[in-house]
Amino acid sequence: MSAAPPALEVTDLAVTFRTERGDVPAVRGISFTLEPGESLAILGESGSGKSATAHSLLGLVDPPGEVTGSVRFGGTELVGMSERDLNTIRGRELSMVFQDSLDSLNPVFSIGSQLGEVFRARAGLSRAAAADRAVELMAAVGIRDPRQRMNDYPHQFSGGMRQRICIAMAIALDPNVLIADEPTTALDVTIQAGILRLLRTLQRERDMSLIFVTHDLAVARMVADSVIVMRHGRIVERGVLEDVFRNPRHPYTQALLDAHPARATRWQDLRPGPEHPGLATPAGVSDEKR
Ligand SMILES: Nc1ncnc2c1ncn2[C@@H]1O[C@H](COP(=O)(O)OP(=O)(O)O)[C@@H](O)[C@H]1O
Ligand SMILES: [Mg+2]
Repeated sequence: MSAAPPALEVTDLAVTFRTERGDVPAVRGISFTLEPGESLAILGESGSGKSATAHSLLGLVDPPGEVTGSVRFGGTELVGMSERDLNTIRGRELSMVFQDSLDSLNPVFSIGSQLGEVFRARAGLSRAAAADRAVELMAAVGIRDPRQRMNDYPHQFSGGMRQRICIAMAIALDPNVLIADEPTTALDVTIQAGILRLLRTLQRERDMSLIFVTHDLAVARMVADSVIVMRHGRIVERGVLEDVFRNPRHPYTQALLDAHPARATRWQDLRPGPEHPGLATPAGVSDEKR
C-alpha cells in the first residue's frame, strides 16, 4: 500500500506585495508538504513571511499582495482559485484561527448564534440541531456551562475564552487542515499554555493536520512535531522539531534558540509528557474561569 497523499503540497509559493514604494517579496518561493495528521510549526522572527505564507494557503492574501506557485489540497489547486470556490473549501476543509479573537468574532451577535450559524448555514442543520452542536462544541473547547453561555456576547468572555470560541468555530465543520497564526500571542503565559494544550488535543483526537505559526520556539514545541524555520521569506530549516531544537543546522535557528533559553526550559516544563497522553480535555479550563 502506498503512503497516504499529503494533506497539502506547496510548491515554489511566493507572495509579493506590490506597493507604491516598490515590491516587497514576503515569501520567496517555498516548497513543503504537510502530511495527514502532522502538526507543523512555521517558526521565524517577525517579518519573516509566516503570515503571508499562512494566508496564501487559504487564498487570503489581499491586494496589493500577489501569490504565485502552487498549493495543492487533495487533488485541487488553490492558487488562482475563484473566491466562490475557495469559500466552499474554507472553514469546511481548510480552516484558520487568527491572532486576535476580537477581530474574528462579531461583537453584535451572541456566541450561540455565531456558532449555530456555522452549522445552519454551512451544514444545513435545523436551528435546534445547530444549537445542540454549538453547545457540544463549546464544551469540547473548554467553555464551562456552555448552554447558559450561548446567549453571551464576545465581550463577556475573557481573551483566552474568546480564542477557544474562535477555535470552536474553526473546527466546527471538521476540517482536515487547521492553520493557526500566532493564536496565543496576545494572551498571558498560563492562558497560552491551556490553549496550546487544547489545540494539541483537538489535532490528535480529530486527526487533523495543524500548521501553527509562531515566533516562539518554546510555543512551537508545545504543539508541533515538525518545524519549518523561515527567514526573509525563505525556508532555512525543515525537520523534526526536537531534532532541530537539539541540533540546529542553520545559524539563524541557533540564534532563535539562543534568544530565550530560560523561557524554552520553562515551557518545556509546561509541556505534557508522554505519561499524559490524553492531555485531559477540556484542557486548561481551570486556568481561567470566564
Ligand atoms: N499588506 C502588505 N503590504 C506591504 N507589505 C506587507 C503587507 N503585509 C506584509 N507585508 C510585508 O511582508 C513581509 C512579511 O510579513 P508577514 O508575513 O506578516 O511576516 P510575519 O508573519 O512572519 O511577521 C514583511 O516585510 C511585511 O512588512
Ligand atoms: Mg505574522
